Amino acid sequence: MKGIVLAGGLGTRMMPLTRVTNKHLLPVYNKPMVYYPIQTLVDAGIREIMIVTGGHSAGDFLKLLGNGEDFGLKQISYGYQKGEGGIAEALGICEQWAKGARIAVVLGDNIIEKNIVEPVKKFQSQAKGAKILLKEVHDPERFGVPELKGDKVVKIEEKPKQPKSKFAVIGIYMYDEQVWEFIKRCKPSGRGELEITDVNNFYVEQGTMTHDVLEGWWSDAGTFDSLLRASKLVAEGGANKK
Ligand code: DAU
Repeated sequence: MKGIVLAGGLGTRMMPLTRVTNKHLLPVYNKPMVYYPIQTLVDAGIREIMIVTGGHSAGDFLKLLGNGEDFGLKQISYGYQKGEGGIAEALGICEQWAKGARIAVVLGDNIIEKNIVEPVKKFQSQAKGAKILLKEVHDPERFGVPELKGDKVVKIEEKPKQPKSKFAVIGIYMYDEQVWEFIKRCKPSGRGELEITDVNNFYVEQGTMTHDVLEGWWSDAGTFDSLLRASKLVAEGGANKK
């Protein structure tokens, strides 16, 4: 399995912090934000990793991460996204590098307390399809939100005004090789982006989407409040625990 960290976009919600640097290089307590999603993949046993970045300071990722020595890696691959055409667009940049393998994708601003060892194992024994991870939150309208019938996800809505459940679809996704075709079927949404939620809904419609509820805390760090929250959580108890 190959791993992908998506750290593109312009970080416009976090101006002026992101005027001269990239959101994913900002500190979350004692490490740059992008360290946490990379660690999440490494802890799941994934050694082949590609990082997609863009916007400001793209070259600084190379200076910071090099060949991944801080994570015990031998090499990191890099991709560049011009502008912010959406999470699915950023993922599409990895097609040539990842084709033929199953992938685990982590958004560059998603930080978890524990690890994804078990969900990755379960996904590897799944015949085909995709897996998403859910977490109960108090503000689901900020996220992709699943509609559940019994234990099945029947639809995912992106930032719904009236969420159909209390769960967020967190920014960690596992896909089989069909993902590249599904990305090509996506059309820009109201916010002008290729949405990862649309990709996920193709799998839901196909009946091959599974989900787990993530153990331990989860936070994004893409707004001032969530960055503060993530920093506090990391400072108080640490992230990426075994
Ligand atoms: O954090 C989980 C949420 O992330 C999910 O629940 C949503 O379904 C999903 O759409 C996403 O929502 P956000 O609106 O929070 O995504 P945001 O635009 O903040 O982007 C999250 C990360 O994705 C960002 O840190 C870098 C990467 N990204 C984003 C865009 C728009 C890219 O690599 N390229 C992009 O063009």
